[in-house]
Amino acid sequence: MTSILVTGGAGYIGSHTCKILALHGYTPVVLDNLVHGHEWAVNWGPLVVGDLSSREVLDRVFKVHNPSAVIHLAAFAYVGESVIDPSKYYTNNVICALNLLDAMRRHACEKIVFSSTCAVYGTPECLPLSESHPCGPINPYGRSKRFIEQIMADYGKAYGLRHASLRYFNAAGADPEGQLGEDHDPETHLIPLALKASLPGAMPLTVFGTDWDTPDGTCIRDYIHVVDLAEAHLAALHYLDTHPCCTFNLGNGNGHSVKKIIDTVEKVTGRPVNWETGPRRAGDPSRLVADAFLAKQKLGWTPCYQDITDIIGHAWQWMAKHKRTAT
Ligand SMILES: NC(=O)c1ccc[n+]([C@@H]2O[C@H](COP(=O)([O-])OP(=O)(O)OC[C@H]3O[C@@H](n4cnc5c(N)ncnc54)[C@H](O)[C@@H]3O)[C@@H](O)[C@H]2O)c1
Repeated sequence: MTSILVTGGAGYIGSHTCKILALHGYTPVVLDNLVHGHEWAVNWGPLVVGDLSSREVLDRVFKVHNPSAVIHLAAFAYVGESVIDPSKYYTNNVICALNLLDAMRRHACEKIVFSSTCAVYGTPECLPLSESHPCGPINPYGRSKRFIEQIMADYGKAYGLRHASLRYFNAAGADPEGQLGEDHDPETHLIPLALKASLPGAMPLTVFGTDWDTPDGTCIRDYIHVVDLAEAHLAALHYLDTHPCCTFNLGNGNGHSVKKIIDTVEKVTGRPVNWETGPRRAGDPSRLVADAFLAKQKLGWTPCYQDITDIIGHAWQWMAKHKRTAT
């Protein structure tokens, strides 16, 4: 069976991607240092516990498993932390990615699908955001991702690297079969936080600003089901067989406000969400919505879970099974 190296495959999006790869006949080989990932989430192929900073680990993985391509998800992804400690982000997200690209060169592995982010756009000049919108990331996290997109383009021209950048909007939901779900520590994503805030005795969820220029005063984001993201990785891998490079937005194209998410969580769980208003966060755009037409057109990708109730329902199904308390 064809092996695909999945860095960060013990994490949230990576583990769902491994399941989809296995369903399509691939062997996902996970390389993860388990700093934020979970051993229990690796079920569909070998787990190599190691860090992308190690040339020795990378050489061993390529030698032993001979992957035909790489899906690179391993990174740190907390925007606020990246502002406080940029060195941590540039070291892990940029230097480690460079190590990976150079290991691919040494082992003649030509194809990579890279987890990028809508944070590469910075503050939107117009909406919905298409791939042609100028990139102007406003924090070290977004810049770290944009650097890798640019480095991959240079490696493509110079060394023939075939590369796909997938710019995710807000990943959400969980495996509909209940095997996998979101388990970040600390958790910063709205849907799991709102679900937790509906549990008995939960601390209040802070809503960062209720006076934005939006219909209900709260920020609007585009939530994309994690299984739809996973499917897009597979489609991008296939696309690279016949195209040298590509960049795609991955979102549903629908914006939902924080209040809409809270209302939907209350409907799904049947309980009130404990929330309070906090100050706006610096750098938060009021609206972020994807134009994902290009991914649909070029990859033949259509998100299966467009209804926010389904997305939250899957996240709740997983949380209710695994995390019954608010702590
Ligand atoms: N979750 C989202 O909404 C979202 C949105 C846009 C982009 N992304 C990007 O998608 C990717 C995956 O996100 P996620 O939410 O699944 O995060 P996650 O933290 O759950 O997964 C990342 C995994 O990478 C591993 N890792 C980190 N640095 C490593 C290193 N140096 N060596 C080996 N393993 C390492 C962690 O242990 C973790 O298992 C990240 O690159 C993130 O920037 C996520």
